Amino acid sequence: MRRDRRAIGIGLMGLGVVGSGVARILQEKADVYARQIGYPLELRRVLVRDVAKPRACEIDPSLLTTDASALLADPEIELVIEVIGGEQPAYGYLREALRAGKFVVTGNKEVMAKHGGELLALAREHDVDLLYEASVGGGIPIIAPLKRDLLANDIVSVTAIINGTTNYILTAMRDGTVAFADALAEAQRLGYAEPDPTNDVEGIDAAYKLAILAALAFHIDARPEDVYREGITRLDPRDFAYARELGYAIKLLAISRKQDGCVQLRVHPAFVAEGELLANVDGVLNAVQIEGDLMSRVLFQGPGAGSLPTTSAVVADALDAAVSISNQVYWPHSFRREAGVALMPAGEITSRYYLRIGVADRPGVLATIAGALAEAGISIASLIQKEAGEDGGAEIVIMTHEARESSMRMALDAIAALPGVGGVAQIVRVHG
Ligand SMILES: NC(=O)c1ccc[n+]([C@@H]2O[C@H](COP(=O)([O-])OP(=O)(O)OC[C@H]3O[C@@H](n4cnc5c(N)ncnc54)[C@H](OP(=O)(O)O)[C@@H]3O)[C@@H](O)[C@H]2O)c1
Repeated sequence: MRRDRRAIGIGLMGLGVVGSGVARILQEKADVYARQIGYPLELRRVLVRDVAKPRACEIDPSLLTTDASALLADPEIELVIEVIGGEQPAYGYLREALRAGKFVVTGNKEVMAKHGGELLALAREHDVDLLYEASVGGGIPIIAPLKRDLLANDIVSVTAIINGTTNYILTAMRDGTVAFADALAEAQRLGYAEPDPTNDVEGIDAAYKLAILAALAFHIDARPEDVYREGITRLDPRDFAYARELGYAIKLLAISRKQDGCVQLRVHPAFVAEGELLANVDGVLNAVQIEGDLMSRVLFQGPGAGSLPTTSAVVADALDAAVSISNQVYWPHSFRREAGVALMPAGEITSRYYLRIGVADRPGVLATIAGALAEAGISIASLIQKEAGEDGGAEIVIMTHEARESSMRMALDAIAALPGVGGVAQIVRVHG
């Protein structure tokens, strides 16, 4: 039975970078959207922390509230858009909204990565939908393609650059002359990095997004804590100089790949060959490459953050929800779980590696390092020895063939104990 309505009431939670874009566009394009949906979309309440704060968009002050329960209890609000961010109180609000039978749109990667399965099940139970396109890749359409357009495929791999802050920093460091701290400071000055950059530079943000993508792509219960994670803080300008010399860019990759019935989940810096599309995704851009058994490879690339690109994804979800509300039909989507798919332990993952090793400049050291690698079953693809510095030490750069992570760990321990070796200064996986 179609309910008698004159508009679709929206409760907007958050009026910051994304929320103010959403409020602005819902108002500016109100007539277009009303024609599209058949009903006007009416912003009824907007939740903020501080109603007196100046806003980046024009907003009727009478809509602003600090009372979440009033918004959630409003029977005229059929659609809640959550762009507060963070786990709490957002998670609690989303549960409440779904339990009250409201459709929900969110851009919250942390909540979706940690609680997405439960929230989607709750939505289904209450005959509503939960949409979260903006939670990964900002303005890039990626959730909807995985839910719909790529459904006929068995997904083989998802390889992504999904953190704009780290991609900006790595791009700034690429010529091998800029230190990590300087690139980070510049990113902070430009507003691309938070004052506390931990979530970005340690790969935590990328791990949230990868967990969401992997749950959709491989129908597994992927949690952020399941993702093997290394950040970018240890990368040295010398690594970028060597990478360039060898024909690679360094990127923070989020990788999920199905292999031998298991799924790998990992976020770490990687050497990416310069000819590859992902090597050329620079600055704050994001990209997600998906490989499927039917369509081979597709690459989605675009602005991974920013007010209007993210608004594009949030409002598209809101329009989708509004169509479902007005027609009282929708396609409930949940994280489908497939039995028998296990997560691959980190030690079993295979990769090629770049190693930078500080050594004493004396005969025989090279042979002992090669011996330690051979002992662990790892063969060398190429080796460069750099001239001794003033301290009399030299640097060896080794590219290996494919090796198992556990074998590499064993070799690294053996190399660190060799006489004349100052330790393995750097190890980076080589993609592809
Ligand atoms: N920024 C992007 O480019 C981007 C891209 C993709 C996804 N997202 C996601 O979108 C969400 C919002 O990000 P954002 O950059 O717009 O954040 P933001 O600029 O910090 O804005 C957060 C908004 O939420 C309000 N808020 C925060 N905690 C609240 C609470 N406890 N109660 C009531 N209101 C609260 C704030 O109110 P006050 O204004 O009164 O302080 C502010 O208006 C996050 O989940 C983020 O991950 C953002």
